[in-house]
Amino acid sequence: MTGTIASRPQGSEASILGLGVYRPERVVSNEEIIERIDSTDEWIRSRSGIENRRFAGDETVADMGADAAGKALAAAGITPSDVDVMIVATSTGLNQTPSVAAEVDVRLGTGGAAAFDVGAACAGFCHGLALANDMVRAGTARNVLVIGVEKLSTFLNRDDRSTAFIFGDGAGAVVVGPATSSGIGPVVWGSDSSGLAHIRQDLPWDETFAQPDGPRWPYIEMDGNPVFRWAAFEMAKAGLRALEVAGVTVDRLDAFVPHQANMRITDAMARSMKLPDTVAIARDIAHQGNTSAASIPLALDRMITEGQVRSGDLALVIGFGAGLVYAGQVIRVP
Ligand code: UT7
Repeated sequence: MTGTIASRPQGSEASILGLGVYRPERVVSNEEIIERIDSTDEWIRSRSGIENRRFAGDETVADMGADAAGKALAAAGITPSDVDVMIVATSTGLNQTPSVAAEVDVRLGTGGAAAFDVGAACAGFCHGLALANDMVRAGTARNVLVIGVEKLSTFLNRDDRSTAFIFGDGAGAVVVGPATSSGIGPVVWGSDSSGLAHIRQDLPWDETFAQPDGPRWPYIEMDGNPVFRWAAFEMAKAGLRALEVAGVTVDRLDAFVPHQANMRITDAMARSMKLPDTVAIARDIAHQGNTSAASIPLALDRMITEGQVRSGDLALVIGFGAGLVYAGQVIRVP
């Protein structure tokens, strides 16, 4: 018990240096979705805000993640070899092992970055962002890639009207790196395991093979309404806490970019948080559906592209989903 363990020197403040996204080519309309469920375009639009979503074709989760990551690196002006850590937030990779992050690493060619996945469902991107922020600040890494990517169409039961219309595919990535002032606020995160079963895979993998009629593919199931109520009330409180710990008042906030779960949840949160009209609100769900871990970077990208936010603006991001788990923080738009 005489030895000592050296610590790394502290790092620097951290910020988002670049953003990149991947939107699959195929646009899937509500009309196409309702061919297989008892619903209407009007119901889907008014209850969820979704007009279209996109489904990937042959591209894998790793393909989409690598594409978004490559664009994020280009936007940040760094090369793959500058990446120290790669964090992939996803729930839809098809291999138990290796991780999607390791697969993305092969495609990008970082030359040896640490690579691992985060399993925090629709809150995964904000969990990854929190880890990346702390790593850069602690000196554990200089540049961290955080990728949120999902191919939810793989696990979608096209005949289940409680989920078939809601989910979509896509990817978004950011580079978190050193900055002279803080560009990512402290995370507010947590869980409410009383809702553990509200969003779930309907069969665990072992049971998929033990079905009376032979093996069957597992699907995502969701008790939408309790999740809706939890998100609309509890996530507004978490969002206000994230603003408070970042020292940002609502009147100084430029944008609100919540997980794109349902347009009515977004609106309920904004009302509860008393966000002034000057705060731009992300509404990417209309075109992209709910893309779980990918939804926040995708939504931020649309706001930047459409000129609703500018570089340097302050945005509140908050992810929430299966677990139930959540994470949110204030960020400076890259
Ligand atoms: O991303 C992870 C986190 N996920 C979420 O945050 C999702 C949160 N939940 C939701 O977005 C919403 O709960 C849904 C959009 C999934 C559903 O909306 P809702 O307002 O909660 O609907 P509901 O389940 O309470 O159902 C209301 C009515 C029911 O009919 P009755 O009993 O009032 O006659 C349902 O049978 O709507 C009916 N319904 C539908 N009707 C047409 C349910 N699904 C459909 C459908 N089309 N697809």
